[in-house]
Amino acid sequence: MDSFIIEGGVPLRGVIEISGSKNAALPILMASIAVDDEVCYDNVPDLRDIHTTIKLLNILGKEASLENGVVRVKNGKLGKEAPYDLVKTMRASVLCLGPLLARLGEAKVSLPGGCAIGARPVDQHLSALEKMGAVFDLENGYIHGHCPDGLRGAHIRFDMPTVGGTENLLMAACLARGETVLENAAREPEIVDLANFLIKCGARIEGQGTTIIRVQGVERLHGCSYTVMPDRIEAGTFLIAAGVTGGRLLLKNCPVSDMSAVVDKLRAAGMVIEETPEGVLACTGEKGLTGVDISTRPHPGFPTDMQAQFMVLMCCAQGSGLVEENIFENRFMHVQELVRMGADIHVTGSSAMVRGGRRLTGAPVMASDLRAGAALVLAGLAAEGETRVQRIYHVDRGYEHLEAKLAAVGARIRRVKEAD
Ligand code: EPZ
Repeated sequence: MDSFIIEGGVPLRGVIEISGSKNAALPILMASIAVDDEVCYDNVPDLRDIHTTIKLLNILGKEASLENGVVRVKNGKLGKEAPYDLVKTMRASVLCLGPLLARLGEAKVSLPGGCAIGARPVDQHLSALEKMGAVFDLENGYIHGHCPDGLRGAHIRFDMPTVGGTENLLMAACLARGETVLENAAREPEIVDLANFLIKCGARIEGQGTTIIRVQGVERLHGCSYTVMPDRIEAGTFLIAAGVTGGRLLLKNCPVSDMSAVVDKLRAAGMVIEETPEGVLACTGEKGLTGVDISTRPHPGFPTDMQAQFMVLMCCAQGSGLVEENIFENRFMHVQELVRMGADIHVTGSSAMVRGGRRLTGAPVMASDLRAGAALVLAGLAAEGETRVQRIYHVDRGYEHLEAKLAAVGARIRRVKEAD
């Protein structure tokens, strides 16, 4: 198992290129299942979850591989089963359910278990697909879905805006008979990216990025070439890296128009964030950092995937900030690790009160999930002395070449192998 060793206290200075978005690339790669021809994707990040998705596509009969950010998915005879061994390592595997049902009329996908940040059920995906004519059985831990007569368009209202649920249904609806309306749909930019990809393949979709998406089913989707959007969560993490180290970073290819909630809060906390023709410039303003409150919400609200990192900024700010987590029930696992580094954080239910103004000190800490791991790396960069972040396989799921990117702007960070 790898760890990061970080010698903190160095202001980061220089240029970082933002990678393709993990959470856009995953559904867009899965969408190739719904497509009849070869598909070519560009700007795909080299990440563990992407390799898992490619493995899953291979198992499902689609030849695919990643080379220099390009994934080419060839057409092949489709299989119908997503096995437990893959699904247990990546919950997003459940995104193959919609396109498989649409193409084959049958799919067998291992039911994802609970995960570190919460229960994360998929009931909304299943009940919506049932409305389109699918029937599900649970057999030996697998969801077995059938729709021998194909999927039919339906009017679906989600109980809550679910990102994965909206994506699964969007893929299914493209090949269904007639019109599907998705109400209370999630509005995340990654969903818009998926819809844009499907439209390029011939799908008829309107309303992506709003709460009501309308899809007119088509007979088949054809191949295309598509460039995946840049990663707004990776970009937000680097903005905070500039803030907590007192550095100055220029982010190239930063999708700032999709990041308003984060950028507004960073500015309110005292960061200077400037859009320039070369990219987005970030540093801490003359007055330093001050505490502000955040409350996570579905897009366009403050993203849950930035909550842990923002908490580190609050640890480094003067005054206090209240951090409220409304999307997942257990996404404060980083708190106790930050406390081990000297942070003053008190959790009550879904809120964490962060009292800043204390210098963090290096310590051995453990990543419990992807964004918690990113937060600990940020804390290590800000802290005095050495921090050892263990279990960074979580971080490797979502940050492309993190230590190389940070080292290139001055961070003292290295990867070491540790015995289990
Ligand atoms: C996506 O997860 C992201 N994953 C997550 O990114 C992100 O945290 C999350 O959206 C919220 O923005 C990918 O895009 C691959 P949801 P997803 O369905 O689709 C509940 C990261 O760090 N719910 O919008 O699983 C659910 O339990 C990650 O990159 C149901 O109850 O999220 C949660 O409380 C982790 N039933 C809420 O809705 C359902 O059927 C939102 O979940 C579906 C969801």
